[in-house]
Amino acid sequence: MTVPLSLGLVARRSGPLRGTVRVPGDKSVSHRAVMLGGLAIGETVVHGLLEGEDVLATAAAMAALGANVQPPDAPGGPWRLFGVGVGGLAEPARVLDLGNSGTSARLLAGLLATSPIFAVMTGDASLTRRPMRRVTEPLSRFGAEFLTRSGGRLPMAIKGSTLPVPIEYVLPVASAQVKSAVLLAGLNAPGETTVIERTPTRDHSERMLRQFGAEIRCVPAEDGGEAITLIGHPDLAGRTVHVPGDISSAAFPLVAAAIVPGSDVVLEGVGLNPRRTGLIDCLHEMGADLTLTPDATAEDEPLGTLRVRGGPLKAIDVPPERAPSMIDEYPVLMVAAAFAAGTTRMAGIGELRVKESDRIATMAAGLAACGVTVEVEADAMVIHGIGRPPSGGATVATALDHRIAMSFLVLGLAAEAPVAVDDAGPIATSFPGFTELMAGLGADLSARPAEPGAAS
Ligand code: S3P
Repeated sequence: MTVPLSLGLVARRSGPLRGTVRVPGDKSVSHRAVMLGGLAIGETVVHGLLEGEDVLATAAAMAALGANVQPPDAPGGPWRLFGVGVGGLAEPARVLDLGNSGTSARLLAGLLATSPIFAVMTGDASLTRRPMRRVTEPLSRFGAEFLTRSGGRLPMAIKGSTLPVPIEYVLPVASAQVKSAVLLAGLNAPGETTVIERTPTRDHSERMLRQFGAEIRCVPAEDGGEAITLIGHPDLAGRTVHVPGDISSAAFPLVAAAIVPGSDVVLEGVGLNPRRTGLIDCLHEMGADLTLTPDATAEDEPLGTLRVRGGPLKAIDVPPERAPSMIDEYPVLMVAAAFAAGTTRMAGIGELRVKESDRIATMAAGLAACGVTVEVEADAMVIHGIGRPPSGGATVATALDHRIAMSFLVLGLAAEAPVAVDDAGPIATSFPGFTELMAGLGADLSARPAEPGAAS
């Protein structure tokens, strides 16, 4: 089944979801594999790369910066990269268009900050609204110059430093993107670049930098948290990377199976990096029938199999310190909370306001339209679950946000009346094949009927 996603999709109440599936590769790991493969000397072979629009934007940018990026010869085959060497990025002749992808923009800003070249980056209507000062502020300290639109937003011009100086930086927000931007900038700076994070965030950059041959030390920081130090000018060498399935994509079939009665779904090869598994902790606390079997043969990143069966859920309090380990999973957790019995409170989630959309506002509006009572605070959300399916019966605006689209489609699979999303196109940024995978499990997803009188 292939449906034109840009016209929107409708999810209807579905029978039990059943089957064994693999979700596409992890987006965070895929971005980093392309960037480091594009720098490392020799051949890098990437198996399981996410071929979503966001990662393809990173691949196109790395090619524009001089890396040799070779897509697979046949669908499903490995990507091959031959890198330019640390410090070897070439000046791009054209503007780098990073589409919807904040990770591409922020991590590439790090690489560009210590490359003695000029580059301009832009993005779509969502990305050009997102804050970049959180990276330009630390990256300027390496000696780079940035010109941005007002409010520190894209488009952004970057003049990389010709004589970079390493920095020590305490992260003011718990952000793996900012941490990674600083570490990537440190690659082409002499001496030691240190990032201190008070709350642990995903450590894919640290793991992968080490795998490619960089020296990284992680030690407890004096005032709490962790100090991560990278030694500049490493010889990065090409290698083989196996990208695990994306737990942030697995989250959608996982919650769908948890809320559709009688479901029994197995998700194989899912990345289970402990800094990404906050949703699993939440679902366990909610009483979901969820088992996890680690794969003992996993090497660079932990992975395993998840099995979930449908059943009743109860409300929980999600502690603020859990936020970094499930930052992209709050929208779909809010859907689970809408079906749970009782009041779920999620605190310390202000970062959701600066994702692909303001996810507190877009989720609150969509949930209210689907008959769920919610309360919104500056950095918290309260969801009053009634222990049975909400009414549904709404069309939700997805605001160029893939995870909003997928969350409401999941809600529609178990709501009383169908739920539509106005634009399912953004799903292709992170989860190509979402509709087909869900339909294969038994989900009733179809193209949204055109509005009466709408132009065709
Ligand atoms: C990501 C980090 C997170 C996450 C994003 C991917 C990464 O962003 O939301 O989808 O790959 O480093 P923040 O660092 O802004 O929290």
